[in-house]
Amino acid sequence: MTTLIDIQHACYSYRQGEALTLEDISLCIARGEYLVLLGHNGSGKSTLARHCNALLVPDAGRVLVDGIDTRDEVKRQRVRDCVGMIFQNPDNQIIATIVEDDVSWSLAVRGMRLPEIQERVAWALNAVGISHLANRPPQKLSGGQRQRLAIAGVLALRPQCIIADEATSMLDPLSRREITNLLHQLRQTYQIAVIQVTHLLEEAILADRVVVMERGRIIQEGTPAMIFRDLDMLRALKLAIPEPLEFAHRLRGLGYPISPEALTLEAIAREVAGV
Ligand SMILES: Nc1ncnc2c1ncn2[C@@H]1O[C@H](COP(=O)(O)OP(=O)(O)OP(=O)(O)O)[C@@H](O)[C@H]1O
Ligand SMILES: [Mg+2]
Repeated sequence: MTTLIDIQHACYSYRQGEALTLEDISLCIARGEYLVLLGHNGSGKSTLARHCNALLVPDAGRVLVDGIDTRDEVKRQRVRDCVGMIFQNPDNQIIATIVEDDVSWSLAVRGMRLPEIQERVAWALNAVGISHLANRPPQKLSGGQRQRLAIAGVLALRPQCIIADEATSMLDPLSRREITNLLHQLRQTYQIAVIQVTHLLEEAILADRVVVMERGRIIQEGTPAMIFRDLDMLRALKLAIPEPLEFAHRLRGLGYPISPEALTLEAIAREVAGV
């Protein structure tokens, strides 16, 4: 797999002379990869995420997106179209009074012709599963549907990567799972890379790779099974351990040889049953 985003020794502070918010971060994100960025409040996740689509540029080091240096102001729009971002509150991203207009707006300002706009809007709404809501006002949609709309708005620009920065944190547990499932589905169907920023370990279980941040640094990196092996490290970072992981830990203590790859209750049940 080739590299889509290449972060090289990036350092960043919000105010000159103050402590670094990002301290010598080096990280490559591959095309089509599903990466979860984990860490508790204030560890620098959002700051790093904002470096991936040139909302912020590093004070030292550099970030290349599809080969473009994010400091290159002339090509900044290309970087932003390549890496779309959705945030905690979808309402900050919704501007139109009708769902389909909201998706078409960013295409129209880029000078796209109507047939192409219509085709992309229909495609994006279908991809996120809200085609049936195309003519509704966004404020009539549920929280989960509004987050789907925000994703459609980003998707219509045909990005190579979507960053979801705590995009599920305002949702109920069911909608939260649905949005995470949707991101996985978009990655699978369209080979779009996903960077999911979260402090919820359960959202990291299906990722290709998990990167753990603490105080502006990357302190761990690996597959979910590798990261979840060290529950004490995760507890020390004040991350809530999901029930299945605690359960598997207890079973191992009782002598059951549960594989570190078993991260869901179903997988653990299969291990115990020996199937
Ligand atoms: N706009 C800003 N101006 C000044 N300092 C900021 C700004 N945004 C974030 N910070 C500080 O930078 C540090 C990292 O913040 P950041 O938002 O990147 O962390 P985070 O891991 O995303 O946290 P959270 O889980 O709360 O979203 C924190 O100490 C925060 O207070
Ligand atoms: Mg954040």
